[in-house]
Amino acid sequence: MKPIIAPSLLASDFSRLEHEVKMINESQADWIHIDIMDGVFVPNLSMGLPVVEAIQRHAKKTMDVHLMIVRPERYIEAFRKAGSDIISVHIEACPNLSRVLQQIKKLGAKAGIAVNPYTPVSSLEHSIAEADLVNIMSVNPGFGGQKLIESTFDKIRETKQLISDTKSKALIEIDGGVNLDNAKTLLDAGADVLVAGNFVFSATDPTEVIKKLKAL
Ligand code: DX5
Ligand code: ZN
Repeated sequence: MKPIIAPSLLASDFSRLEHEVKMINESQADWIHIDIMDGVFVPNLSMGLPVVEAIQRHAKKTMDVHLMIVRPERYIEAFRKAGSDIISVHIEACPNLSRVLQQIKKLGAKAGIAVNPYTPVSSLEHSIAEADLVNIMSVNPGFGGQKLIESTFDKIRETKQLISDTKSKALIEIDGGVNLDNAKTLLDAGADVLVAGNFVFSATDPTEVIKKLKAL
């Protein structure tokens, strides 16, 4: 099966957001990955609801929203209204993860669980069956342009096993440091979705890079 490619807007030129979203629309990308940071869960701020609404006005692809925020249940409805098709929340930020996943699904969006690089796969045991997506962070969340952590490859295989053991339908998304040197190995290990920020947006021809990732 062809991989799902999700360029991360975090690395795009925010002064030309409409242009960047249209580039994704016209490319072979499947999703638009949107990173939301609150300066508490991660030591950085990115964009908020008005920006997501602005993206929605131009986006023709699935909006994949990654919430790196504490107590995400406070904002799920607002992000859904702003156009999110998929909403991922961090397991580390949700003492009652199951309730938040249900909240997302009730609003008609797909529900994802994001896990930090050093959060063990076993912590997903009880909730993975309810998830549509698992976002395995392959860098410490908060910043684009970092190097992929090597233990990600084993973590994908372990997650794949857990998905099969629990009969979950969750897709595996890899987020951080993805490029053409590691993408094939990530897919061979069991990844379904590749997020790529800097690798796409720092290229001279982002559309061509997306095409190459999609062809893997
Ligand atoms: C990091 C974000 C990622 C980031 C990936 O906290 O969740 O989505 O944008 O960017 P690259 O591909 O540059 O590592
Ligand atoms: Zn992300």
